[in-house]
Amino acid sequence: MTGGFPIHLPVMNTLRDRHILLGVTGGIAAYKAAELVRLLRTAGAEVQVVMTHAAGKFITPLTLQALSGRPVRDELFDPEAEAGMGHIELARWADAILVAPATADFLARLAQGRADDLLATLCLASEAPLLVAPAMNRVMWENPATQANVDLLRARDIAILGPEAGEQACGETGTGRMREPEALCADLQRLFAGNALAGLQVLVSAGPTQEPIDPVRYLGNNSSGRMGYALARAAREAGASVTLVSGPVSLEPPEGVQLIRVQTALEMRDAVLAEARQADVFIATAAVADYRVADPRSSKHKRGDGPLRLELVENPDILAEVAALPEAPFTLGFAAETDALERHAREKLVRKGVDMIAANRVGPGLGFGSEDNALEVYWQDGHQSLPRQGKDRLARALVRLLAQRLGRNPDQLCTSQLHAQD
Ligand code: CTP
Repeated sequence: MTGGFPIHLPVMNTLRDRHILLGVTGGIAAYKAAELVRLLRTAGAEVQVVMTHAAGKFITPLTLQALSGRPVRDELFDPEAEAGMGHIELARWADAILVAPATADFLARLAQGRADDLLATLCLASEAPLLVAPAMNRVMWENPATQANVDLLRARDIAILGPEAGEQACGETGTGRMREPEALCADLQRLFAGNALAGLQVLVSAGPTQEPIDPVRYLGNNSSGRMGYALARAAREAGASVTLVSGPVSLEPPEGVQLIRVQTALEMRDAVLAEARQADVFIATAAVADYRVADPRSSKHKRGDGPLRLELVENPDILAEVAALPEAPFTLGFAAETDALERHAREKLVRKGVDMIAANRVGPGLGFGSEDNALEVYWQDGHQSLPRQGKDRLARALVRLLAQRLGRNPDQLCTSQLHAQD
């Protein structure tokens, strides 16, 4: 967690598939945690709620369990829960920890670095950015003891979100209200908006192509387009301007991305080449049909028309053509292989003249159509494994690696930028 990266307001939802550990401590504002969980889930985040015992006096774990879709954790030494995901594993699972509401007592325990319950232990044991939303009576907030704790936490790069001024549950008016759930959700969105690829034009090809046989039939393949769409989104999240050239898929167009829809390999090639000259990076995830029908019929082939013979001709290799352009962008290709992954991937790296190749094993439960995937990424003198995970998370990991290869600083999540906007 270092400073120095200006975080710009996101133009898109950056919470999709993020792991948010939401700590809830014992104050009247704990009821607002329910709305916060709902908002985070709606934005696509996974939410694990961890409550202190005192929080249970204000809101039931069952409410938060129902909204988050995960059992709420509240015990440090709960053998059953620990067997599922141990507290250290949970600390590693989190992409960010948000404690909302955070009581004066919790801020004090955090400042002291205590590990006397599960939530405090997780805050101590996690490397994820830590954000707290204090909520308490105004006199407690203004108390020099609380203010000293808050100063200490700020100095340790913990984001202090709020509190806000207004009417308080105790009947007084002053500073101490918890920041509203919508605002906290927006803070997390800003936390995850990166700029490792800021100023770059990224072009992505995705999905299958369909090669017509006649007006109603085509040759196609099973590519879902998910990896390409996830990469387009991840590149956008990292600050790039993104153009996505997509074959026919049934996916939502990613927010903030220019989408060009095509059907055939030749259409995809024309669209990609028209954009490639302005691109700094070309990511080829499309499962381009290797062959097309030489002479598609202009009318439907009827059953009685006799045997159907198709002459197939080879399609151009779009990735190789882009890589051979005079001022070629940085090229990242994909290779789906059933065997000899490294050998085939490295052979493609050389044959197509690309800068980096991400190879995945295809087979039962992996690759095409599956939610999860793992990648082996190769470049001329290097290699990195990206372990099996959801495609959105995998895409973010690949974009980080890409940014490193481009000599950019991969995104550091930077809580200090949030302080400025408290
Ligand atoms: N690719 C492309 N245009 C093609 C074929 C492939 O741009 N006509 C790109 C894919 O998007 C992918 C990479 O090339 O990034 C490798 O695709 P793959 O189908 O594995 O490679 P092939 O060259 O078809 O090799 P093979 O089928 O023999 O494994």
